[in-house]
Amino acid sequence: MKTYNELPSDAGSNIIGQVTAQANRLQQRLTSVKHTVAVMSGKGGVGKSALTANLAAALTLNGNAVGVVDADINGPTLAKMMGVRDATLEYTSIGVKPAITALGTKLISMDLLLAEDEAPVLWNAHSQKDAFTWRATMEVGALREFIADTEWGELDYLLLDLPPGTDRLPNVAELIPNLGGVVVVTIPSEVSQLIVKKSVTMARHILKVPIIGVVENMAFYVCQHCGEEEPLFSADETLDKTLQQLMLGSIPFDPQLSRANDTGTPYVDKYPDAPASRVLVQVGKKIQDFFISTV
Ligand SMILES: Nc1ncnc2c1ncn2[C@@H]1O[C@H](COP(=O)(O)OP(=O)(O)O)[C@@H](O)[C@H]1O
Ligand SMILES: [Mg+2]
Repeated sequence: MKTYNELPSDAGSNIIGQVTAQANRLQQRLTSVKHTVAVMSGKGGVGKSALTANLAAALTLNGNAVGVVDADINGPTLAKMMGVRDATLEYTSIGVKPAITALGTKLISMDLLLAEDEAPVLWNAHSQKDAFTWRATMEVGALREFIADTEWGELDYLLLDLPPGTDRLPNVAELIPNLGGVVVVTIPSEVSQLIVKKSVTMARHILKVPIIGVVENMAFYVCQHCGEEEPLFSADETLDKTLQQLMLGSIPFDPQLSRANDTGTPYVDKYPDAPASRVLVQVGKKIQDFFISTV
């Protein structure tokens, strides 16, 4: 399979020119963003989006200008979790204005571009054989457009909620060569940690992207009757040593967090004293500290 760079002819559509122009626009757009942070896990369902929404809220509440890219193009959930699913995007001559949450966090998501609730994202390939490569290329293209064509304004932080899969980070690192750092989300199960360790290796040794740290989600739950902390996964599934050293915080399971996500309410703002909120706020501060110490 040839890449578009190797195509002898592109039927006059000047794909290389278009992609280059857009890549330049992306770099130009990022000059107004101080720090870019990718939130990844390698595995789905561990709470990446829930944490991204709340870390963005915590950073915003701390006085930062924050933008979020829902980079999960095929399974976008952030518009709902951040309570802006009804937002209508405004297009201007310099780009599309992102949706803005009640707290003032900016968001761009495929979900805001799809007309119907039930509408899936369809990637039309020329043949079934090409579908996989085509889809990957289209996804990277969509992501490039999201960042390049959004009128972000001045931002302290731009968070990217990546879809599951260790192969996603290389794409992002290529799009954003000066990616500020990666936050890796895991749950205390061996299966999750196995994949998360691969993500850490990928970021650290292959891509040489700085790792801000690891967040352990759904680590335990607090009994609503007796206040005792109970593990959510089997007790011997403690966090792997390598991951432990990178630990930013352990977030308990809280049914209120899941409800807040479903109703688009910023949990850290609504329940500031909840144990999970306190950890999320601390993790937000550690992200800030990471960038202060690397200046
Ligand atoms: N700490 C938590 N407590 C309660 N529910 C959570 C917690 N973290 C995530 N969830 C819920 O778990 C589900 C999966 O989380 P999500 O963020 O969509 O995962 P991912 O983005 O990694 O696929 C969502 O319904 C979310 O609200
Ligand atoms: Mg998600």
